Amino acid sequence: MDADAYRQEGLAAVERATTIAELDQARIHYLGRKSELKQALREVRDRETGMALNATREAIEQALATRQGELDRAALDRTLTEETVDITLPGERRRRGHLHLITQVRRDVEDAFVGLGYHVRYDREVETTEYNFDKLEFPPWHAARSPRATFFLDGDVVLRTETSPSQIHEMEERQPPIYMVSIGRCYRRDTIDATHYPIFHQFEGLAVDRGITLADLKGTLLHVMRELFGEDRAVRFRTHYFPFTEPSIEPDVSCGICGGSGCRTCGYSGWLEMGGAGMVDPAVLRNGGIDPEEWSGFAFGCGLERVAQLRHNVPDIRVLWENDVRVLRQF
Ligand code: PHE
Repeated sequence: MDADAYRQEGLAAVERATTIAELDQARIHYLGRKSELKQALREVRDRETGMALNATREAIEQALATRQGELDRAALDRTLTEETVDITLPGERRRRGHLHLITQVRRDVEDAFVGLGYHVRYDREVETTEYNFDKLEFPPWHAARSPRATFFLDGDVVLRTETSPSQIHEMEERQPPIYMVSIGRCYRRDTIDATHYPIFHQFEGLAVDRGITLADLKGTLLHVMRELFGEDRAVRFRTHYFPFTEPSIEPDVSCGICGGSGCRTCGYSGWLEMGGAGMVDPAVLRNGGIDPEEWSGFAFGCGLERVAQLRHNVPDIRVLWENDVRVLRQF
């Protein structure tokens, strides 16, 4: 073969390559294993021809390396100009998430009670009928014991229908003075509507100490309702019945929308029902291992969903479970 002609041809091909792919093609064609040059090198017999062929190989290799460098630099220059970031363009704002409304309310409730020296506890959601009913002195005929009202897992295991079993757990675990609030999910076989959902949350307070009276209960609830709803709120008690408190009451908080003068939200009464409460029945204290001759106490229970609805005028409880961010974003 003619080494000089081969070199001219090879160098020209390298020079013509305008992309890395074209350059690779030239490399394979002129220096590859099956190239004319490699074939000739394999068959070399004399020193002269060998030197001429090797010189050609080196020249083409050199040219390839130079051209490779040029093409690489050109490619880099191109990306640098084409892909510049215009830092003066407005950015895309990332929306920050926030806590679910019920979690916000739960934390506010915790803050209010911790401020009063209460400790917070979270109990099991699966309870025995002993703790959900018996030790709370539910009579055998009470409607809540029906599988039509309560989710039974088997004969004596239920999804707790209220946070009140925490009263018993707390009393069994520690001696008075007791100041605790228990918060968590409860379950009832309610038909879903704007104010009912089979899963809901309650907070349950329990205070057991010497000389506790209904006045302490009222002062405590007034403080907590003002923490949750604002300083101008008032609290009143209506008599009621619960198996585990005596006397039992239902606390109302004054309506914040009309200021107590009556509106649609409060049913034109000026007051909003906030749950149940009362003095802990002496039999319940005894069930918790506490001597009712020495100690007395009060207890109360209230729904977190109810607090959330009243605070934000949420007309339908279902939106708290649907997790539609367009709704949740608003709180
Ligand atoms: N557990 C009652 C309910 O769910 C509320 C309550 C709690 C009443 C504590 C009295 C004392 O309706």
